[in-house]
Amino acid sequence: MEIIREIQAMKEWVRAARKKGETVCLVPTMGYLHEGHLDLMRMGRPLADHLVISIFVNPTQFGAGEDLDRYPRDLPRDIELSESVGVECIFHPEASEMYPPDYCTYVNVENITSGLCGASRPGHFRGVATVVAKLFNIVEPDIAIFGEKDYQQLAVLKKMVEDLNMNVQILAHPTVRENDGLAMSSRNKYLTPEQRKNALVLFWTLKAARERVKQGERSAAVLKSEAATMIEQVPECTIDYVDIVDPVLLTPLERIEDRAVMALAVKVGTTRLIDNMTLEA
Ligand code: PAJ
Repeated sequence: MEIIREIQAMKEWVRAARKKGETVCLVPTMGYLHEGHLDLMRMGRPLADHLVISIFVNPTQFGAGEDLDRYPRDLPRDIELSESVGVECIFHPEASEMYPPDYCTYVNVENITSGLCGASRPGHFRGVATVVAKLFNIVEPDIAIFGEKDYQQLAVLKKMVEDLNMNVQILAHPTVRENDGLAMSSRNKYLTPEQRKNALVLFWTLKAARERVKQGERSAAVLKSEAATMIEQVPECTIDYVDIVDPVLLTPLERIEDRAVMALAVKVGTTRLIDNMTLEA
């Protein structure tokens, strides 16, 4: 397996493949890989001739006071894990290579970035869209895979590709969970054993809301208030947001008419966790 750190070298690797008419699938990550990431890679492996992943803790998507400096990293383990699922090449650039001192171009996807995580993390999606656009220009993938765990991120990137006429097909992978339901995340590492138990409230709340919709509840206000009550009862859990939105536009809904997405962001101790689930009337 190849580990490529320079943009030019990555471009040349891909160009050589594309010259032969071969296709490329890209799975962008920030590393510290878990089964969720690996499932995205397993999904991508048969879809193209080459499977490339990127490991880059992207500074432009972290706000002041967020966890950029302590974001977990373990490259040797990431190399081993990605090799085990058939990754051929890891693009692992330095921040100074991606963002030289005179860097000044950003991609801003409007509207769907205004709510949910966009509201509580100003500038976050500008950083995500910018780095993913750069990765697409460097790797020129035919296909790129993202997880539904980061639902708004997926919607933002689909919109970016549509609006900027990018030549890449975005595919979604369902959220991968631990056996007890906690959505896998590199940030779960921050949780103490007690917080790890408390963090299950995200999954339980989403499941309860889905059940309530199945039973006939249609009011988003009622569902959100029930969800908030569940979360507030758990020690160390504070709500960042509880929302019910249109699955494509991410606009807030008042009633569940057909399909909706409930999205949660909850701080467990100092760790901010997100999760979401589709609600079907
Ligand atoms: P990261 O959090 O490392 O996630 C990389 C990819 O794995 C994303 O598409 C994310 O949605 C997906 N993923 C993470 N946990 C998952 C889970 N439990 N189930 C399914 N998919 C999961 O998301 C990012 O990195 C960055 O924002 C990035 C897109 C790489 C841009 O910097």
